[in-house]
Amino acid sequence: LAQEKINTDIVTLTRFLTEEQTKHKEATGDFTLLCHALQFSFKSIAYYIRRATLINLTGLAGSSNTTGDDQKKLDVIGNDLFVAAMRSSGKCKLLVSEEEEHLIVFKEHPKARYAVVCDPIDGSSNLDAGVSVGTIFGIFRVEEDCKGTEEDLKLPGTELVASGFTMYGASAQLVITMKGGSVNGFTMDNALGEFILTHPDIKMPKSRAIYSVNEGNSLYWEEPVKEYFQGLKYPVEQSGKPYSARYIGSMVADAYRTLLYGGIFAYPADKKSPKGKLRILYECAPMAMVFENAGGQAVDSHMKRMLTVVPEHIHDRSGIFMGSFDEVQKVIDVHKKHQ
Ligand code: AHG
Ligand code: MN
Ligand code: MN
Ligand code: MN
Repeated sequence: LAQEKINTDIVTLTRFLTEEQTKHKEATGDFTLLCHALQFSFKSIAYYIRRATLINLTGLAGSSNTTGDDQKKLDVIGNDLFVAAMRSSGKCKLLVSEEEEHLIVFKEHPKARYAVVCDPIDGSSNLDAGVSVGTIFGIFRVEEDCKGTEEDLKLPGTELVASGFTMYGASAQLVITMKGGSVNGFTMDNALGEFILTHPDIKMPKSRAIYSVNEGNSLYWEEPVKEYFQGLKYPVEQSGKPYSARYIGSMVADAYRTLLYGGIFAYPADKKSPKGKLRILYECAPMAMVFENAGGQAVDSHMKRMLTVVPEHIHDRSGIFMGSFDEVQKVIDVHKKHQ
């Protein structure tokens, strides 16, 4: 019997990071150690997410955050796990979290040269229904003599040195990309407790007839947005087939599907939310970098390249369209007609 070929050359996230580090001659290993701390925060958040219903961790914490979201118990626990992992890494100087009103400055690590932005639990409104949620993160370099104020984080996404997200679904997936690099997907092997490289060098299909948007907001959409989605649903070309609609309501889950299958994800700014809903620093920018590095595009509601948008404050929001290159181009072309 031909023995099933066992892959003995397993690329774990740890090995992947070591190999990445060798690409940078001047590397000190600080970035690698910071990523190991990130890895642990994903593992510990995944652990609590999976046990939530068993140990009464679902439901509301009874508080709300700066952006007005009701905080779930797991939002708070995910945030606390993340802050502890970043603090104890000794490599993180500044931390922005959706669940922290103010910037966290780790004064005990004056020599640390990284700022981390994070959405500890994205999609938390879906948590109690068992729908996939995840963590979104971005890493910036900061100067040693940085002021340690929110001013240090008024940066465009082009300054990100790395970004990505996890999705705690049927299995725990991690997608990570470095500045100017490829997009790589890892799957958690619970037996080993390791993220294993399963989706090397993810490239998005250039087009795909799938759109992902909350149509419950269409009453508030601007004209170009209405025209764009109408065109997907009622194609004018005779040959045109209507697009499929897929909307999970967790950005990480909608993003992961769009990354692998193609299509477009949108959370437009509209008359109800003039600046959109998604937060620039820890949702829009990290996702935009992943999508661009996978060959796609990401723009805001003014059709400006998402990675060039600078937040006015650490919880600033923006509209966003991101997905397959040609699908985002269609949105841009419809908006051009309205200028
Ligand atoms: P979060 O759970 O981190 O606050 O993010 C929720 C976001 C995002 O995950 C998702 O795309 C969007 O909210 C869904 O918003 P609607 O329910 O308004 O469609
Ligand atoms: Mn929230
Ligand atoms: Mn979110
Ligand atoms: Mn969140």
